[in-house]
Amino acid sequence: NAGIALVAKAAGKKYFGSATDNPELTDTAYVAILSNSSEFGQITPGNSMKWDATEPSQGTFTFAAGDVIADLAIGNGQLLRGHNCVWYNQLPSWVTSGNFDNATLQSIVKTHCSTVVSHYAGKIWDVINEPFNDDGTWRADVFYNTIGPLYVNTALIAARAADPNAKLYINDYNIEGTGAKSTAMVNLVKSLQAAGVPIDGVGIQGHLIVGEVPSTLIANMEQFTALGIEVAITELDIRMTLPATPALYAQQKQDYETVISACNSVPGCIGVTIWDYTDKYSWVPSTFSGQGAACPWDATLVKKPAYDGIVAGF
Ligand code: XIL
Repeated sequence: NAGIALVAKAAGKKYFGSATDNPELTDTAYVAILSNSSEFGQITPGNSMKWDATEPSQGTFTFAAGDVIADLAIGNGQLLRGHNCVWYNQLPSWVTSGNFDNATLQSIVKTHCSTVVSHYAGKIWDVINEPFNDDGTWRADVFYNTIGPLYVNTALIAARAADPNAKLYINDYNIEGTGAKSTAMVNLVKSLQAAGVPIDGVGIQGHLIVGEVPSTLIANMEQFTALGIEVAITELDIRMTLPATPALYAQQKQDYETVISACNSVPGCIGVTIWDYTDKYSWVPSTFSGQGAACPWDATLVKKPAYDGIVAGF
């Protein structure tokens, strides 16, 4: 085949892409594949645009590492998803331990989002990352505990003001299928729309397990697109309990195909990003003990059956 990005384009999607991270860019064989815009039409920085990387101390913005990824995308002719403005994780301690009052923290959120989104203008942005618990209640992080749910409004309004051309998303995991957490996201989008707050899309992360792909992917995406917004699958990987076997690889191929073809059949699903393309740099083994082999290329940068599943899905 011609490469996944080209196949995705031919199917009418905006992009197929991959996350990447700065330390990996010294690996020239890795970069050569990542930079092939026939395979990847889009990249997402895995870490270097997060709050701890971009505003390590209050009011001091550091864009050097993020710029490396943004410049790589530009050089390769790839789109970039900015990731992310507001998240409970990878926050510098000045945010988590600052004991700010509501008004002060809102002003901090506003400054952070507008500075980061205007620095990387014209991008798709995960403005809010992981706002909900799995039962659909709000995550009790520093933003919610101090500001309440309106921190989301503040961030989105600041992002839109900073760059009217940016596409503004809320991104989360365990919203691949219908359920309490997806319903909470639907209700959040409705309440933002009712309040006139800008929201362009919902990012469905897609950190899945081989053999456990939800059966309601399409119906779930359609409940978001019915609200007049886009969806994207933003962090797809499909992990297994190690060791990998041919049977697990075959099931993984089927699972990738199922997810891709679900996006393919929903017009408002604009694209798919995998959370790095190779097992060599996947976040899975260090996060989920005993699990891995989640990506479509193996740790020696050779394509797995999953690759063919992706191509077949578009
Ligand atoms: C992960 C990165 O891939 C790791 O390198 C880092 O140590 C932790 O964060 N959901 C997200 C991503 O939105 O930002 C996370 O990325 C993976 C889960």
